[in-house]
Amino acid sequence: MSDILEHMAVAVQAAPENAPLRVQYARLLLEHGRHTEALENASTALRLDPADGAALALVTEAATALTTRAPADPPAPAEDATSSGARGFDWDRVEAELGVDVPQPFVDDAMPAGPADEAPLVPARDESPSADGLLEVSHETITLDDVGGLEPVKKRIREAFLEPMRHQAIAKAFGKSLRGGLLLYGPPGTGKTFMARAIAGELGARFLTVTLADVLDKFLGQSEQNLHSLFQRARALAPAVLFLDEVDAIGGKRTQYTGSSGMRTVVNQLLQEMDGMGSDNDGLFVLGATNHPWDVDSALLRPGRFDRMILVLPPDAPARRSILHHYLEGRPVAGISLSTIVDQTDGFSGADLEHLCASAAEKAMTDSIASGEIRPISMDDVQAALAEVRPSTTAWLQSARNVVSFANNDGRYDELAAYLRSRHML
Ligand SMILES: Nc1ncnc2c1ncn2[C@@H]1O[C@H](COP(=O)(O)OP(=O)(O)O)[C@@H](O)[C@H]1O
Ligand SMILES: [Mg+2]
Repeated sequence: MSDILEHMAVAVQAAPENAPLRVQYARLLLEHGRHTEALENASTALRLDPADGAALALVTEAATALTTRAPADPPAPAEDATSSGARGFDWDRVEAELGVDVPQPFVDDAMPAGPADEAPLVPARDESPSADGLLEVSHETITLDDVGGLEPVKKRIREAFLEPMRHQAIAKAFGKSLRGGLLLYGPPGTGKTFMARAIAGELGARFLTVTLADVLDKFLGQSEQNLHSLFQRARALAPAVLFLDEVDAIGGKRTQYTGSSGMRTVVNQLLQEMDGMGSDNDGLFVLGATNHPWDVDSALLRPGRFDRMILVLPPDAPARRSILHHYLEGRPVAGISLSTIVDQTDGFSGADLEHLCASAAEKAMTDSIASGEIRPISMDDVQAALAEVRPSTTAWLQSARNVVSFANNDGRYDELAAYLRSRHML
């Protein structure tokens, strides 16, 4: 032990309630690679003065050091330690170092491994033309495996364009030219945008996102030309997927904009682009997403445009299980019964489930910091969080009832109607 550390240790012993002193000692310990003791002292300081920003920073730093670097110090008794509970915290490692005996994380049977996906297409990022601020070239790293549930949706996306893009020769031979449009619709938070990001992760530079609000806002009066040049860029990259999120914003019922001829011409331009008027749309796939399909101009839903609509439903029980597992596995958990949570979260969207996990984690973390004892996320935290997080899809499904009852003449919403009936909502 170096002299200065020895002196500091004596000083801290003499004044155990002196928070700034503890912080200084913790920083020194950290510098000497004694991460566990650093964490211990920093968290004691934080307990003494919860407003001490330096102490909090050191807790985080020491916890990170503990989980990312080789163990440099001998294990300390469990009751002296605490942790920040930060995301990505390597619980096993800390457990081993501190000699903490933590109960089994999940009390249910283990999760079945998700279906293995095909190898992602090699992203050809550098071939893409430089974006002009409206056209975002994807740098996503998530893939379809990160999207919980939604198996039927993933299957249709694979069939509609992922597979044809991987095997263009075969698709051509069977006369299935790669073009067209597909519209994802469903309650908010069910993963439509997330799904698109995952597809971007699979396709790399062959996936282009258009920020519609920008097309409309920034170039008032010249939106049509901009829309055209965006489509031209995508065509130049073909085979490619062009993603229009919240398509109801631009493709809104034209009658809504009778007062705004600007918007109407944009909608007309979009129709022309999707038809490929005067341009070749081969190899161009347009993916749209919306929470309000009934507000999308029906002209956009005709053959050759968004002629396929896919309902993105709130996750069913197995899907909720996999989403919950996904958001809890990176966190310190103990005694969690996924089945119990699954049973209590009917009607929760993927976003609701993510929020639930984050709230439970926050409760355990706050507690750990306040008491100075590491406490993993327990079922009590989940139950407390459940009392605060409400399922957000119910309101959407209720309003969808009216549409299905009164405006489903063409059978467009048959899938939605079947779902509502299965839930006895119709
Ligand atoms: N099926 C899912 N699997 C995993 N995470 C999900 C899922 N659905 C939603 N989420 C989470 O909720 C967030 C919000 O979802 P989002 O895709 O924006 O919903 P939508 O576009 O359908 O309104 C996502 O970024 C993701 O973190
Ligand atoms: Mg969205």
